[in-house]
Amino acid sequence: MEIILAGDMGFCLGVRRAVEMAEKAAAESGELASLGSIVHNQQVVDRLAALGVSVIRDSAEARDRAVIVPSHGAAPAVLTEIGQRRLSVIDATCPIVTRSQRWAKRLAGEGYGVVIFGNPDHPEVRGVLGWAAGKGVALLDEAALDTLNEPLPGRVAVLAQTTQTADRFTSFVRRLAELHLRDAREIRVVNTLCDATTSKQAAARALARQVDIVIVVGGKESANTRHLAEVAREEGVETYQVESAEQIEGGWLRGRARAGVTAGASTPDEAIEAVVARLRELA
Ligand code: F3S
Repeated sequence: MEIILAGDMGFCLGVRRAVEMAEKAAAESGELASLGSIVHNQQVVDRLAALGVSVIRDSAEARDRAVIVPSHGAAPAVLTEIGQRRLSVIDATCPIVTRSQRWAKRLAGEGYGVVIFGNPDHPEVRGVLGWAAGKGVALLDEAALDTLNEPLPGRVAVLAQTTQTADRFTSFVRRLAELHLRDAREIRVVNTLCDATTSKQAAARALARQVDIVIVVGGKESANTRHLAEVAREEGVETYQVESAEQIEGGWLRGRARAGVTAGASTPDEAIEAVVARLRELA
């Protein structure tokens, strides 16, 4: 069985930067509190924990440790709360997420109702929503447009969670226009998708066209990893998402001539190498 790797996969700049900032700060101060996982990958979280970086859910749990804001960012109210506790802050928010936060703040300030196309429970989306200062709503999919609690305002700005696919964002915007353009004065769309994600998705699509099985490596909570699997499935190829090499089952590979491997932006190189080694072993 031939094993083919996606042309673009694994750690993106934003994740690499956040992990390096956490490693450096932990080496300097010994202990560090991360406001949620630094990245959505358990292997990375475990490795950082061994260096003294523990995950907290709320700044109250930080005690007197410095707090690192993960690559997904945080709402301004959360940052204010950390400041009020007089804790030092290391801001590892990915610059691409910061760009979305700035758009949300600016557009809300200009009087737009801000619609964020993304998972309302994802930390990035919760953070960006916070920057819209009460003038935003996060919607998971097109169906959520049909069941809004309140009608959208006359001026609407639409942003996307950075890791969404361009296709899904396009159909969301199309549906929003179909439902709302008649009553709206203005609909403004800002492309806040991340280029690193878009490039990985294109590489996953190209990979899926060459193989008869795709293995996507990455954390189950990682949105960008999940989207890679969706993209590969859209090409009609059997696709499995695994967090580690041990999860690969021999039966998946029976009768396959070519297996493709791709990985989310929060997946470390070691996890990808382990998956490739396991595929070789099983093949
Ligand atoms: Fe940032 Fe894009 Fe990575 S938003 S964290 S560079 S996937």
